[in-house]
Amino acid sequence: MTDPLLAWRAEFPIVETCTYLVSHSLGAMPRKTATYLQQFADEWSGRGVRAWNEGWWEIGRTTGDLLAPVLGVRRGTISMHQNVTVAQAIIASCHSFDARRNRIVMTDLEFPSNMYLFEGFRRYGAEIVYVKSPDSMRSDLQALLDAIDERTVLVPLSYVLFKSAFIQDAAAVIEKAHQVGARVILDVYQGAGTVPMQIEALAADFAVGGSVKWLCGGPGAGYLYVRPDLAPELSPGIVGWAAHAQPFLFAGGAIDYADAPERFQSGTPNVPSIYSARAGYEIVAQIGVPAIRQKSLRLTRRIIQLAREAGYRVNTPENDAERGGAVIIDVPDGMRVANELIRREVIVDYRPGAGIRMAPHFYNTAEEIEHAMDVLRQIVNEGPR
Ligand SMILES: Cc1ncc(COP(=O)(O)O)c(C=O)c1O
Repeated sequence: MTDPLLAWRAEFPIVETCTYLVSHSLGAMPRKTATYLQQFADEWSGRGVRAWNEGWWEIGRTTGDLLAPVLGVRRGTISMHQNVTVAQAIIASCHSFDARRNRIVMTDLEFPSNMYLFEGFRRYGAEIVYVKSPDSMRSDLQALLDAIDERTVLVPLSYVLFKSAFIQDAAAVIEKAHQVGARVILDVYQGAGTVPMQIEALAADFAVGGSVKWLCGGPGAGYLYVRPDLAPELSPGIVGWAAHAQPFLFAGGAIDYADAPERFQSGTPNVPSIYSARAGYEIVAQIGVPAIRQKSLRLTRRIIQLAREAGYRVNTPENDAERGGAVIIDVPDGMRVANELIRREVIVDYRPGAGIRMAPHFYNTAEEIEHAMDVLRQIVNEGPR
């Protein structure tokens, strides 16, 4: 049976040079990205300052619109930022943390920079509550739901956990948060482009993510979705002139906010990074995440099967419904083994306390999975030299 998604391989030069199984970290670059970057250079070089009026100024909005179907949100709701940290800081700055409602509740398996950022809000009165997980794979949903109460202002929640690829029950968390008047910031970074999602139907208040991973969009293109009915109520404290309703009036004093999504903008858009993200968004949207997911499940199931047969511990849920796009395999001396895999042109990564992370995407073949697992077994059997 031929796999129609393999037609896309020709668009991703790196997959012909190595076994590229690291799309949970840095997705392969589409050929067309070079065209977009060249377009940026040509516009800067040939049109100069006029380029701002010929697409650069709106590039955040128009690029966010390319991403909208992938996230399951309507057009005109996404703004572009340098990264997730900046996008979340802007959202945090829309809130106050007074004694009656000052808690930020999250699991202890969140991505560390989510913790670092919100820890910084203690100086503004925030209290950070970490909900302990039973192991490093799954969060404790009931404990998380119990911790969200009338004192909670924000719940940062990874849709898919970075360490284990565990899919959290976002619907249950959003429902509980809304019952008690709290808001949820869904971090979709580890899911967007490989796990189908309908963020607007989920009623998530905010969604943040970046383009580096499954979206094959490269660094410097973070994104922020804000629930359309909530956006007009919010007044970000971290804000700049690009968020002004009429930025080119250069009016002094307090800001007169633009409507969303520009309302959540800071300063000058990072045009080249946003250009570099466009090709990946277009390709993922054209293929459709459900088709990517079907293939991903087939290949990750096979990785799990081969890992089990070899007697390795798998730190990723076996149940398809609970698993994102990566598989984490724990072998003795994992960091050395991961480095040796990379030396032998099988590109993966390693996370302490989790293991070797392997992630097939739509451009990978079934043969590449067999090859990667063969090389892994050889390295483990050889032991350290
Ligand atoms: C779930 C998740 N959130 C956030 C980040 C980091 O985001 P950024 O570097 O864009 O701030 C990562 C990076 O790996 C991640 O996996």
